[in-house]
Amino acid sequence: MAISSSVLLSLFILLPPIIPNSLAQSNSNISLGSCLTPIGDNTTWRSPSGDFAFGFRPLDTDPNLFLLAIWFDKIPNKTTVWYLGGGTQPVQSGDKLQLVSNGYLSLEDQTGQQIWTSGTGSTADYAAMLDTGNFVLASSDGSISWQSFDNPSDTILPSQVLSQGSMLRARLMDTDYMPGRFILSVQQDGNLVFYPIVQPSGFSYDPYWASHTVGIGTKLVYNETGSIYLALANGNDFPVVSAGSYSLSMFYQRATLDPDGVLRQYVYPKNSTNGGWSAVDLQPLDICQAMFTETGSGVCGFNSYCKLNGNQSVDCECPPHYSYLDPSRKYRGCKPNFAVHNCHAEGTEVDQGLFDTVELKNVDWPLADYEHYQPLNNELCRNNCLSDCFCAVVVYNDQDCWKKKLPLSNGRVGSYVQRTLLVKIPKGNYSQIQPATLMPANKKNDKRTLILVGSVLLGSSAFFNLLLIAAIIFITFYGFRIRRNAKLGPDLSTVGLSLRCFTYRELEKATNGFREEVGSGASGVVYKGYLQDKYDTCIAVKKIGKALPETEKEFAVEMQAIGKTHHKNLVRLLGYCNEGKERLLVYEFMSNRSLTQFLFNGPRPDWNRRVQIALGVARGLLYLHEECSTRIIHCDIKPQNILLDENFVAKISDFGLAKLLKTDQTQTNTGIRGTRGYVAPEWFRNVRITSKVDVYSFGVILLEIICCRRNVEAEIGDEEQVILTYWVNDCYREGRVDLAVDGDEEATADMKRVEQFVMVALWCVQEEPSLRPTMRKVTQMLEGAVDVPMPPEPSLTSGTSCR
Ligand SMILES: *[C@@H]1O[C@H](CO)[C@@H](O)[C@H](O)[C@H]1NC(C)=O
Ligand SMILES: *[C@@H]1O[C@H](CO)[C@@H](O)[C@H](O)[C@H]1NC(C)=O
Ligand SMILES: *[C@@H]1O[C@H](CO)[C@@H](O)[C@H](O)[C@H]1NC(C)=O
Ligand SMILES: *[C@@H]1O[C@H](CO)[C@@H](O)[C@H](O)[C@H]1NC(C)=O
Ligand SMILES: *[C@@H]1O[C@H](CO)[C@@H](O)[C@H](O)[C@H]1NC(C)=O
Ligand SMILES: *[C@@H]1O[C@H](CO)[C@@H](O)[C@H](O)[C@H]1NC(C)=O
Ligand SMILES: *[C@@H]1O[C@H](CO)[C@@H](O)[C@H](O)[C@H]1NC(C)=O
Repeated sequence: MAISSSVLLSLFILLPPIIPNSLAQSNSNISLGSCLTPIGDNTTWRSPSGDFAFGFRPLDTDPNLFLLAIWFDKIPNKTTVWYLGGGTQPVQSGDKLQLVSNGYLSLEDQTGQQIWTSGTGSTADYAAMLDTGNFVLASSDGSISWQSFDNPSDTILPSQVLSQGSMLRARLMDTDYMPGRFILSVQQDGNLVFYPIVQPSGFSYDPYWASHTVGIGTKLVYNETGSIYLALANGNDFPVVSAGSYSLSMFYQRATLDPDGVLRQYVYPKNSTNGGWSAVDLQPLDICQAMFTETGSGVCGFNSYCKLNGNQSVDCECPPHYSYLDPSRKYRGCKPNFAVHNCHAEGTEVDQGLFDTVELKNVDWPLADYEHYQPLNNELCRNNCLSDCFCAVVVYNDQDCWKKKLPLSNGRVGSYVQRTLLVKIPKGNYSQIQPATLMPANKKNDKRTLILVGSVLLGSSAFFNLLLIAAIIFITFYGFRIRRNAKLGPDLSTVGLSLRCFTYRELEKATNGFREEVGSGASGVVYKGYLQDKYDTCIAVKKIGKALPETEKEFAVEMQAIGKTHHKNLVRLLGYCNEGKERLLVYEFMSNRSLTQFLFNGPRPDWNRRVQIALGVARGLLYLHEECSTRIIHCDIKPQNILLDENFVAKISDFGLAKLLKTDQTQTNTGIRGTRGYVAPEWFRNVRITSKVDVYSFGVILLEIICCRRNVEAEIGDEEQVILTYWVNDCYREGRVDLAVDGDEEATADMKRVEQFVMVALWCVQEEPSLRPTMRKVTQMLEGAVDVPMPPEPSLTSGTSCR
């Protein structure tokens, strides 16, 4: 028990009165049998350097209650980095923590009843508060049976690692350690997600930030140079936050999932007397925009809106004539200071004379609208809300008008919100009047005002009980879908992302009510739309028309399998919607449409570009057949399904749908005897379908790319030329491949490649599937990596001659 006088001195100087009698032990090994009590000589165990202490500290909210915690002991505010039981287990002055002789921690109340234990199964020879901030129970051989780093609260410290299955849970407020509203979870599936959690049920809403590392994320690491990252199975790091140049030798560091749902990394200068914690990095960067949950209030409570206060904090503000439900807990939301427009009162549906509006710029609650008008000018928009007893606020922008009802959720303010808000308030001077004493300024004694006053006098609490009941019902019926699919964001380029599950409503909104049709096919109609993300990502939404027998779950499983495919020559599936009977697929949008438009509509495209497209399609198919984790036979390769991006890179779409759509290829007949379009002949026989069906379709498309014409062109005068596969075969047999590219100067100048491509195509369209090469072989032959042998004569070819 050797406490140096300087330590004692500094303790007396630094310790604020909140930690009474803190005669901490600074010897580093705590022996079995040692005790701590909330009050008395032994309240804490300190680390050798004195940077951290473990022990009891009084709650800010009630000094008679104590928290078992770990904190930074050298800084005046004693910032807590760990606390027991998510703050739900406050300790009373008579309680006692003992490192019992069996080698575990036991917290007992004054009657000797055990309140908490670190695990009776484990054994240890001693305990130690380490200089890293980790409190460990260890054996003499050095093995650790329990440590605070494995049981984190809301903070992660340098050298701490969170393995799969661990989480941080924000506290409710800076001074209230009760379990808060947000969780950061290192999920078992490898994804790092932040999501809101519903009090008190514990249901979780959609994540507002995700690393999109399903299958490859392993653990969250806070390394010695101040970087916090998710370590990936492939050896790479997925950065989360980083302290940059703030070194650990000069700064204390921590990262905390703050009560507002933001993971902030803080630094504190060690040798400065007037320093404080300052956030040097954060995730997500703008919580007000990141949070977008259909149910739940968002970052702030209902009826309030979220305002960024630099990187350091978030404010929740009330609209004019609304006030905080609980001014000391602003996150709980806002209530109107007046009786809202009442649909039960006589005549109020039609009378707009009772209400007025106040204007606010750059504020919106993007999800609370129940009506959308377009076009509608601002004045009509306002009047429409005034005369509608459901309408609480109305938001407009140009010719768009959105009516919203209470409670309002996901509110945000910022210059990025290009909207004008009108808040509906009663006419007269209500601004300074509290609800309980609310009287109209102009004491008009008519029936309506009486009703108005009456409903106010009954208490806004009745209204809020109703709101609460409505909210509970809403959550009960709609809030149980626990979804952890990662939200889409700017981080899409990360590999291994999981798909986003969209609501029908979101897609309806994104496509402006499915207005702009950009294509249609056997599987459904495709619409153009925009995601409401940072980049207004342009999307193609496919509404699947066919009845799908699959259950929602099977559909989702299938979608996840497709979501795992990543290749330059595949259109990326971003998400899907699976709601009731509605099945929609969301793809990245391809600005140069499909191969159909490219090849057949307009002037003959550049030969080199066509060569690259042929190679791209071949590579995409090779990936589907051999390289992706779930091998996929496309079954419906045709020019409409080959899309082109802004750089004319070919991307195959609609893959993986064959199983879902139960594609019946035998019905895809072109109507011309002996031809099957792109469909391999075995579809018409009772044989097993293999990936060779795609090779056949590819062969047909390759010929179309070479000749820039459709496989079947009934209008062509010359009968021999009607079916492209037959005609090119005939040309090839007669040594006149040049006829296939007649008039195409670029291709004619590259005759060797044309011949090579034609031969590959003729191999692909062989009747007998086993004769057709694999896509790997096809790719090698197209790339010139292997020689192309002479293709055999397709057996069904009509023996017409080439002219
Ligand atoms: C505090 O702990 C030390 C060492 O374990 C012990 O000798 C001392 O008696 C304790 N003091 C009280 C008041 O329990
Ligand atoms: C703490 O105990 C362990 C095991 O008995 C021992 O190896 C270590 O040196 C001790 N540390 C101190 C500072 O006494
Ligand atoms: C910590 O992680 C960052 C980012 O992954 C890396 O650049 C840095 O080298 C790491 N530091 C150490 C000491 O490993
Ligand atoms: C803190 O320490 C650093 C290096 O040890 C020194 O450069 C700096 O002046 C010190 N600051 C104060 C306020 O003492
Ligand atoms: C310490 O805490 C108080 C109250 O929580 C706060 O006002 C003050 O800014 C804090 N000081 C530092 C240096 O962080
Ligand atoms: C917030 O952090 C970003 C970088 O993370 C920085 O660019 C920006 O300037 C910071 N803003 C404030 C107000 O500190
Ligand atoms: C509204 O009432 C407040 C306080 O009762 C007063 O200060 C204010 O001037 C009034 N405003 C108008 C426009 O009457």
